[in-house]
Amino acid sequence: MNPFYITTPIYYVNDVPHLGHAYTTIVADALARYQRSRGRKVFFATGTDEHGQKIEEAAAEQGMKPAQLADQVVARFRETWTNLNISHDDFIRTTEARHKLVVEKLWRRMADKDDIYLGEYEGLYCVGCEEYYTEGQLDADEKCPVHGTKVQHLKQPSYFFRMSKYQDALLEHFEKNPDFVQPEIRKNEILSFIKGGLRDLSISRTTFDWGIRTPDDPKHVIYVWLDALTNYLSVLGDLDSENNEAFWPATVHLIGKDILRFHAVYWPTMLLSAGLPLPKQILAHGWWTINGQKMSKSLGNVVEPNTIAKDVGRDALRYFVLRETPLGSDGDFSHEGLIQRINSELGNDLGNLLNRSLAMAGRYCDGQVPALPESPTAVAEDKTLVELATASAEQAAKHFEACAPSRALEVIWELVRGTNKYIDSCAPYKLIKDPEQKARVGHIVANFLEALRWIAMMVDSIMPDKAAEMRHQLGMGETQASWPESWCGLTVGSQLVKGERLFPRIEDDDKAKLFEKWTGKPPADGAAAKPESKKKEQAKQQQKKQKKEAPAKEDVTISFDEFCRLDLRVARIAEAQRVEGADRLLQLQVDLGKETRQVVAGIAEAYSPEELVGKQVIFVANLKPAKIRGIRSEGMILAAGGKKVLALSALDREVPAGTEVR
Ligand code: MSP
Repeated sequence: MNPFYITTPIYYVNDVPHLGHAYTTIVADALARYQRSRGRKVFFATGTDEHGQKIEEAAAEQGMKPAQLADQVVARFRETWTNLNISHDDFIRTTEARHKLVVEKLWRRMADKDDIYLGEYEGLYCVGCEEYYTEGQLDADEKCPVHGTKVQHLKQPSYFFRMSKYQDALLEHFEKNPDFVQPEIRKNEILSFIKGGLRDLSISRTTFDWGIRTPDDPKHVIYVWLDALTNYLSVLGDLDSENNEAFWPATVHLIGKDILRFHAVYWPTMLLSAGLPLPKQILAHGWWTINGQKMSKSLGNVVEPNTIAKDVGRDALRYFVLRETPLGSDGDFSHEGLIQRINSELGNDLGNLLNRSLAMAGRYCDGQVPALPESPTAVAEDKTLVELATASAEQAAKHFEACAPSRALEVIWELVRGTNKYIDSCAPYKLIKDPEQKARVGHIVANFLEALRWIAMMVDSIMPDKAAEMRHQLGMGETQASWPESWCGLTVGSQLVKGERLFPRIEDDDKAKLFEKWTGKPPADGAAAKPESKKKEQAKQQQKKQKKEAPAKEDVTISFDEFCRLDLRVARIAEAQRVEGADRLLQLQVDLGKETRQVVAGIAEAYSPEELVGKQVIFVANLKPAKIRGIRSEGMILAAGGKKVLALSALDREVPAGTEVR
């Protein structure tokens, strides 16, 4: 198997890390972790781009030396990568001696080819881009199209790289390697740029000092992009080092679409000149906007990844950015969207699956892993589950190989939902009442635990903490992630560990507080943060008022439309347990076909938890969720009786869970 060498761009140190930087690095991390789980040798590099006029000016503005500013910001990058659980193998700084050495070597190799000559450059320069523009490329009033700031007129002696010489060779490389630049839309942009004609490139500056001096002519510093791009080689060691031999050419340079030309034109032509192989692929991802707006300091909407990771967990943030948009497309980050995905896909789908699975294994199998059925395909439901898991792993692997983590997550979630469905259709909570079905129940439990093991392995590269927690709860101890291949993984008899909820639900109160903290505004859906005591007081007043004002039920009629607003459904009680310290309450998990809801019901005096499991009841599905004794209740089951419950609503024959009632 070829080794896998993946890089992120190296980040400028004029700014602290934000969501855009975090995104590139999280994607690279997920891809690196996936490849490691397949047993491939991986090298994952990131770092910082510290030279150039932009950094020199930013430092001066803050009254610092550039090296001082760089040290400060580098510490922030390192800390952020630790906070986001980034597993890079090396972090290169362009101010390090090992880097300078390779930049000088590369320069010499290009010079030896007679590809560097001294000339004079006169042009319009954007310091933000660290690039020259022609007049036609600028917006009105000589403004840079990327930064919107006025370009500078520069005239200076400069060394040039004969980039034009490599135009044909580069086009030929594109032709022979159709995946060299991806996605297609970006490839086409670059191809038309190259076909428009490559000019020689100015690769040195004399108007400032902060950079690597050109070998043999100390009046010049090397152009910051030549300096920066070389990090992909220098991080491996010297050009003739063993590491270079082992990992070059890079498998993927992952970058944002804004820096494609540097990577897909300047870098490969420099490598061609130096006689080095070209990277296998340059993969450009899209840009994030924030609630539809460009992220910018002046708009005050810069998303700070450390805070979010701390508040909702780093795995939730990693999941969100990877799931939200396909890699090549632009994405819009919304705080609402983040919480929505945490509550639904992570909490309801995955978290509940683990929770209910362990609860059932606890009750029916003494909390131990039972044996799988001898034939995994003898029962139709089992066959469907095993086939689904196999297809999901195959597809997810394909998507990871194609560097498409959002697609991989889509198919992994098919297995998450499929496993929930498997439990519902096998209904072990019903079978367990029949002593003759004990063995079958064991098989069902073994199957859904095994599906969870597969899921834990497949989400490991995306959510390493949670995947490790899943493995721990599944009784696998401190195992490393490896891609699942066969339906046999858990050790029979090993003890399951009932642990914390994987993704606790973010309730409206907490959501409102988080929003205030992150954006300074309440959430758009109106979930407002009010002190708990004030809210309770208001609710009490409201109830009192209603009691006083409301006429007796039998004295009012409601319209048919009003009745129709009730969403009544058939629900099957999947799990039931007592609520500690509350004699009247039971905490239930009810199955509505497509989803499972948690409800707290005041029926403990009339029913024991054991006799409820498997019963079908009528359920009010659109009742506003409430917290009862600190437990979220998401609906209500209908029962006969007043304060004292006499009997549960029931149906006279079995129907699928979730069926509408009217
Ligand atoms: N120093 C250069 C890269 C040199 S690589 C040899 C640079 N640095 S940067 O810090 O400005 O940007 C680094 C990466 O962050 C780029 O890939 C860029 O696309 C990405 N992002 C910066 N803002 C972004 C968003 N709003 N959204 C997504 N990614 C963005 O360029």
